[in-house]
Amino acid sequence: MKKLSIKIILASILTSIATHITLSRENPVNGNPVAGKEKAIICIGCHGRDGNSTNPEYPKLAGQVPAYLYKQISDFKKGLRKDETMSSMALSIDDKDVADVVVFFSNQKPKKPMRKTLKTNLLGKTIYHNGIKLKNVVACASCHGKNGLGRPKSRYPALAGQHTDYLVKALKEFKSGIRRNDLLLEMRNITAKLTETEIEAVAAYIANLKWKWGQL
Ligand code: HEC
Ligand code: HEC
Repeated sequence: MKKLSIKIILASILTSIATHITLSRENPVNGNPVAGKEKAIICIGCHGRDGNSTNPEYPKLAGQVPAYLYKQISDFKKGLRKDETMSSMALSIDDKDVADVVVFFSNQKPKKPMRKTLKTNLLGKTIYHNGIKLKNVVACASCHGKNGLGRPKSRYPALAGQHTDYLVKALKEFKSGIRRNDLLLEMRNITAKLTETEIEAVAAYIANLKWKWGQL
């Protein structure tokens, strides 16, 4: 009985922390895209002049949800997300410049996916839109949107047209727990249930989703 009440107290503390985190997700990013363009000079070597990187190691930033980008840079700065290259890059950008740079990249138009990775990919499509009922995997679309454009006022990132290699890396890193900056464990919980084949299939499907402006 004692154990149970401790559990209940713990659960309510966790819920209140979670609610607090959820509320702070709504913060809009107030940046100046014109100033951001100048300040993004140190980023474009890897992420591309317009945020459409061509090297699949570097994620595309064009059109990405601004609050998501902002959070990632803060997470890299704080060491909550780690990457050999990007962690030091994040530290090189001044806190007061982050909002400008983020708004600049999110205003850029994403280019079409570069090539078709898979012509028909029913497994990836099914996981994305319907989840996997037997394993209690919810549809990716329920958070990332049916067109993979994320949710502009939240921190749910856009995924459409992202590089397959980067997506696979990100999903595997959530699965292994190397990446643990999803505040409510959304991605760690979901990837724990996915096999490598399922990860590759869903990543290939997402990479081929064409960006449709205005169709969130
Ligand atoms: C030398 C190459 C390099 C430079 C320069 C660079 N980045 Fe990155 N960036 C990376 C890599 C690699 C990743 C992927 C890290 C990972 O796999 O976790 C990344 C990831 C990111 C992410 C996360 C994207 C996502 O979809 O989660 C953001 C945001 C970002 N970079 C912004 C910037 C900004 C802003 C600058 C300029 C201040 C910059 N980067 C400069 C290499 C670079
Ligand atoms: C309950 C909501 C939710 C569901 C369902 C969900 N995601 Fe996510 N996903 C998130 C959140 C929140 C983040 C951002 C975490 C962070 O702050 O870094 C994220 C991040 C990601 C990223 C990293 C993007 C980047 O640019 O680095 C990928 C890839 C991803 N999700 C793929 C998927 C796939 C594939 C599925 C379905 C199998 C899925 N997600 C289902 C909420 C969700």
